[in-house]
Amino acid sequence: GRSSLGAKLVLLGDMGTGKSSLVLRFVKGQFHEFQESTVGAAFFSQSLAVNDVTVKLEIWDTAGQERYHSLAPMYYRGAAAAIIVYDITSIESFERAKKWVQELQKRGNPSMVKALAGNKVDLEDKRKVMAEDARAYAEENGLFFMETSAKTAVNVNKVFNEIARRLPML
Ligand code: GTP
Ligand code: MG
Repeated sequence: GRSSLGAKLVLLGDMGTGKSSLVLRFVKGQFHEFQESTVGAAFFSQSLAVNDVTVKLEIWDTAGQERYHSLAPMYYRGAAAAIIVYDITSIESFERAKKWVQELQKRGNPSMVKALAGNKVDLEDKRKVMAEDARAYAEENGLFFMETSAKTAVNVNKVFNEIARRLPML
């Protein structure tokens, strides 16, 4: 097979769920308590190895604020993969994640690999979204599911690696 390939990946989800923090953890190994809210979108790239293939992820970290919603199609159009992020301490953010899933099902590339990430799992004492509910939703809708923490790094590399492993061109 090919020894290297590029794949566009988009992160979607409500404001404050930790999209930028997940990317910053994955790409730079950092976490900022006072991460600034994203304006428009931010671009990152990171290579990882899947078996003998180098996958260069071209990552679009979108802004979750409602006023940027209309820009989202520019970022998910042509994307090979999406991570839809919610915050386990916020039911509203889980509801918003479901809306993103619906939008991708309607307008996204049908072969897109999709992950549902329940972020901030370090805040277990403030949990509002049960993992079983999110997992059931993900299974019904063809996404894979993981709970993550950008703060403690739990499952962050794993979610990006799993995305890469599932890319249809691999
Ligand atoms: P927008 O750019 O506005 O869409 O937000 P975002 O989804 O990029 O969220 P961001 O990464 O800016 O994180 C929002 C806040 O949550 C910041 O204060 C982060 O420090 C915090 N945060 C992000 N991930 C985690 C996490 O896993 N655990 C905890 N405890 N806080 C987190
Ligand atoms: Mg952001």
